Amino acid sequence: MDKLLITGGRCLSGSLRISGAKNSALPILAATLLIDEPAIIGNIPHLHDVTTMIELLGCLGAQVVVDEKMRVEVTAAHLGQLKAPYELVKTMRASFVVLGPLLARFGAAEVSLPGGCAIGARPVDQHLKGLEALGAEIEVVDGYVRAKVDGRLRGADIAFDLVTVGGTENILMAACLAEGTTRISNAAREPEIVDLANFLSAMGARISGQGTSVIEVEGVQRLHGCEYSVMPDRVETGTYLIAAAATGGRVKLQQTDASTLEAVLEKLRAAGADVRVDGAVIELDMHGRRPKAVDIETAPYPGFPTDMQAQYLAMNAVAIGESRVTETIFENRFMHVQEINRLGADIDIQSASTAIVRGVDSLKAAPVMATDLRASFSLVVAALVAEGTTLIDRIYHIDRGYETIEEKLQLLGADVQRVR
Ligand code: EPZ
Repeated sequence: MDKLLITGGRCLSGSLRISGAKNSALPILAATLLIDEPAIIGNIPHLHDVTTMIELLGCLGAQVVVDEKMRVEVTAAHLGQLKAPYELVKTMRASFVVLGPLLARFGAAEVSLPGGCAIGARPVDQHLKGLEALGAEIEVVDGYVRAKVDGRLRGADIAFDLVTVGGTENILMAACLAEGTTRISNAAREPEIVDLANFLSAMGARISGQGTSVIEVEGVQRLHGCEYSVMPDRVETGTYLIAAAATGGRVKLQQTDASTLEAVLEKLRAAGADVRVDGAVIELDMHGRRPKAVDIETAPYPGFPTDMQAQYLAMNAVAIGESRVTETIFENRFMHVQEINRLGADIDIQSASTAIVRGVDSLKAAPVMATDLRASFSLVVAALVAEGTTLIDRIYHIDRGYETIEEKLQLLGADVQRVR
């Protein structure tokens, strides 16, 4: 199993290019199941989760060609089966978003229930409620969701009980081929939803309201092929900004989009970072200073993203002062706290949703273990600051969501090595 060896104590400094967004690429790849013509998608990040989605498309019978620049061409003209097996869905929850497109185009689909995962129970009740409202008959048998519909799905008014990114994506894709108009209320407003809606529109879908909490979709009979480029990864962007800030460093991130990161940039400025935006470039400079402790509370977009909570918490661990970190999206997303404390941090988990972080002057290296994707990077942030060499085990979690992590960190001057 791969591990990362990080010797801390250097200020990150340098420039790097941000990859395409994982959480956009995954539903966009799933959406290619809606058409029988080729779709060509650029700026796809080279990540394990993307490979899993490509494997799933291949297993369903789609033809997938990937070129050396990670431009992916998918042709889902004839599918051999409409079943997404447990072996693939269990390794990546995002596979569940093939349900909507398969059902809308073929009138039937069988997708394994994703089950719980380290960060929380993560049910799919809202996805199923939405598809039922569109006229699907759904049963759960032997761990699989079996959905079918006679003829086409029918447009409907759907109000989610809570904001769900995957649920909004599944219903949005299904509604594109439904008969009549679908109105999704309490929809997720995440930039990845907007990116997916733009991709669907490029295939001929009629969608309005993406980026707001009410999305309307006027169903069409058929969609067509297109070429599209995935948006920059806002979580990768925010993660490297936080890593640089925690080390007192200075970075220039290219090919990104500051407009998708306002809540994070505001909190970085509050921590004392000098942040400048120029078109697709974000520059951050801490001028060698230690960050100030800042409270954060996660919320659906445009609030502070849960996917950057762990990394920000790691920065707070070495900041001046005390802060409160509140997690409102997932019920078990503080697993990194124990590990960061192993490096000498002073963090108390007060309740399932609140951690009190008392900033310490320095951290000391120790062996630690990654528990989930973003939590893993919080350990990287802590290790970059710690005195000595930290060994981070189970970094397969990091490889699911961060492209060429050690190369990118080395570009910023970090002392990082991958070992087996
Ligand atoms: C997406 O997950 C992201 N994944 C997650 O990123 C991200 O943390 C999350 O949205 C929240 O922003 C992808 O885009 C592939 P949700 P998703 O449905 O869609 C509850 C990362 O690190 N819920 O918005 O699965 C659920 O349990 C990953 O890149 C229900 O109760 O998240 C959670 O508490 C991790 N019923 C909350 O809603 C449902 O039917 C938000 O989940 C659906 C969700």
